[in-house]
Amino acid sequence: MEQVFVVNHPLVQHKLTQCRRVETETWQFRGLVEEITALLLYEAVRDLKMVDTDLITPVGKGRGKIIDRAEPVFVAVLRAGLGMVPGALRLFPYARFGHIGLYRDHDTLVPVEYYCNLPPNIESVDCFLLEPMLATGGSASHALTLLRNAGVNNVRILSLIAAPEGVKAILKEHPDVKIYLASIDKKLNAKAYIVPGLGDAGDRLFGTD
Ligand code: URA
Repeated sequence: MEQVFVVNHPLVQHKLTQCRRVETETWQFRGLVEEITALLLYEAVRDLKMVDTDLITPVGKGRGKIIDRAEPVFVAVLRAGLGMVPGALRLFPYARFGHIGLYRDHDTLVPVEYYCNLPPNIESVDCFLLEPMLATGGSASHALTLLRNAGVNNVRILSLIAAPEGVKAILKEHPDVKIYLASIDKKLNAKAYIVPGLGDAGDRLFGTD
């Protein structure tokens, strides 16, 4: 699984531990997800395309490198992926965002699509799927298929926690996708929650249950 990157940086692991704690409150959880996303992104954009540019400093002329304004594009899987948007915006305030709405059918656990709105002209840009929990991997896989059908060639997943089953299922359907994670946990339980995980990421982000 050479395309799966677990970011073991102390800051990521420390913040993930705080996220997991049942006593962590909604306002704290939001801030932690934002920070972890920014830290995962720091790793995930290492090979982003750069262009040379002229510049003038207070002291004189120089040359520098910048990231193309069209890059990157983020696609949040509703609703929990919304919690990762502030972290992406923190590093890329000008970025374009898409949204994919999926929910898991309670009985079959199969993802059902109810919304898909993607920015135009994203075929050749670096695209990042924001999905904090890769449980069965069904939602992320479905979202990746939608992106591929929209012509997007280069997609990476940013996620806080995955179950081994989820990673395996995604790579089976999309063998070339890169996945950036803070942790791969033990397993899924009978209700397809990640164990030990952090509970329902959407509920913890939005104060629902
Ligand atoms: N979605 C979550 O938010 N948590 C899980 O453990 C599994 C899926």
